[in-house]
Amino acid sequence: MKIAVIGAGRIGANIARGLARAGHSLSLGFARDTAALAALAGELGAAATSPADAVAGADVVVVSVPWRAIPEALAQAGPLEGKIVIDTTNQFGSGPMPAPGQTAAAFNAARMPGARYTKSFNTLTSAFQAQAAARPADQRVVQWLCGDDAAAKEQVGALIEEAGYAPVDLGGTADCAVMEAPRRAGAVYGEEWRLPEALAVVEAVRAGRPIPDTPSYSDVAT
Ligand SMILES: NC(=O)c1ccc[n+]([C@@H]2O[C@H](COP(=O)([O-])OP(=O)(O)OC[C@H]3O[C@@H](n4cnc5c(N)ncnc54)[C@H](OP(=O)(O)O)[C@@H]3O)[C@@H](O)[C@H]2O)c1
Repeated sequence: MKIAVIGAGRIGANIARGLARAGHSLSLGFARDTAALAALAGELGAAATSPADAVAGADVVVVSVPWRAIPEALAQAGPLEGKIVIDTTNQFGSGPMPAPGQTAAAFNAARMPGARYTKSFNTLTSAFQAQAAARPADQRVVQWLCGDDAAAKEQVGALIEEAGYAPVDLGGTADCAVMEAPRRAGAVYGEEWRLPEALAVVEAVRAGRPIPDTPSYSDVAT
């Protein structure tokens, strides 16, 4: 697939590396340090280009910028209509914020009209994501996923798997508060989960029940 990464920083570069390794065609855009972006693109066999050009040629657009930079990134990216979007952002810092009770995913989806919006890769630190991507199948960590377009989520789930993680669909953008910041009791944000335990979380969220306690794993191989 053709994948644009808008903001190839810690998280965006991880995703770009994983998807380039899996054989996808990457275009990277939106940087103040264009030399660093070009160097990363060279390392990955990717293109470093303007956000608008990256998005125009892409099937999938990864939005991975600090919260405060989202309005500028979206302005430079141009129309996202029909594009599958993977939003990795968390609502830290300044900038327009979700209304009380509104998820950040629902808020951001509304800022990307016509996009086939999904949110993922947002719950674990970039260092942990980079390290965990090489794990054997039975130790894979979950990348939670939400969105209101089932077909888009299926495609993003396949990309998550190719990048080395276990995708788990938590539901729609209105239902995904447990995968959003901040780290807190009763949420999956900031915690390692694996597939068997994660399925119980999905059941609990669907039933409107509190999620199970965070598991702890002692067999980490990486
Ligand atoms: N870091 C984590 O552990 C982590 C984990 C999960 C989710 N997230 C979320 O994922 C998103 C990206 O986080 P990150 O840690 O990958 O960020 P980051 O390392 O700071 O990367 C941000 C990227 O955006 C680019 N950019 C372009 N214009 C910018 C501007 N005006 N201000 C700031 N950056 C600009 C930066 O390039 P230049 O510096 O060259 O401009 C860089 O490539 C955030 O919303 C964050 O909350 C982060």
